[in-house]
Amino acid sequence: MRGILLAGGNGTRMFPTSKAVSKQLLPVYDKPAIYYPLSTLMMAGIREVLVISTEKDIPLIQSLLGDGRQWGMELQYVVQRRPEGIAQAYLLGAEFVKGHKSCLILGDNLFYSDSFEQYLSRAKTFSGGATVFAYRVSNPESFGVVEIDESERAVRIEEKPQQYISPWAVTGLYFYDATVGDKAKRLKPSKRGELEITDLNRMYLSEGTLNVIRLGRGVAWLDMGTPENLLASSQFVQTIEQRQGLKIACVEEIAFLNGFIDVGQLHQLIHSYPQCSYRQYLERMVQNPEIHMIRKPGSAVA
Ligand code: G1P
Repeated sequence: MRGILLAGGNGTRMFPTSKAVSKQLLPVYDKPAIYYPLSTLMMAGIREVLVISTEKDIPLIQSLLGDGRQWGMELQYVVQRRPEGIAQAYLLGAEFVKGHKSCLILGDNLFYSDSFEQYLSRAKTFSGGATVFAYRVSNPESFGVVEIDESERAVRIEEKPQQYISPWAVTGLYFYDATVGDKAKRLKPSKRGELEITDLNRMYLSEGTLNVIRLGRGVAWLDMGTPENLLASSQFVQTIEQRQGLKIACVEEIAFLNGFIDVGQLHQLIHSYPQCSYRQYLERMVQNPEIHMIRKPGSAVA
């Protein structure tokens, strides 16, 4: 399975903060925002990822993440010249995902839960079609929204509905079969001129192959794309990390625990980092990996 991380857009909701720096590179407490969606892909066991961003931001993101080899991954980059909707990711990434199942995550989505890997595993093992995640929100009109029937099937999906449909927002994490590229080619721009991810999902719905998984109330789904949400996300991460002494979305830790890199590679990485609390955290992890191991190293999601 391949991953796409869509870190494009103009960041207008974050202006002027996002004028010189991509919003994906802004700090969410102790690390850049892009580490959070990247770590979600890693937790799904995905090592090959295409990062999509603007011409201006790609070199900056690249200087942060490199080619991913340091974390046992393969990162590729593609420029989105004009933001034309989330589903455009599958036109830009058509070659990359050809013949593969894929997972798309939006660059401003943060997921956190002790049981999140189980949700990812359920989505990864879907036999055909698409899987989306539904999350109960107080303001569904701001999202894609799905209506779910008694047998947990999606019956309707709408983008930013004016009329109330349900409280179930569709999160920015999508799993697709290998037909997604062909479907994306058939999309037409919406009234707001975008290739809507909701229209893509509706194609699966009309084929009867749109799976929906409800995320429970113990899951945190936050977005980092507005000043308020960026601050709230930082505070959330700080609160959990300080309380537990464990980091959220520490990519080196996930790479090690998932068996993407071995202890020697982890040591090398640590030695290349400056003296800082992030490095100290990794040093502590190498000394006492069992504290960090909810799973054993090498047991990535199936
Ligand atoms: C986009 C999607 C929407 C989805 C949301 C999740 O909205 O269009 O369906 O619910 O991401 O973050 P946007 O952030 O473009 O308003």
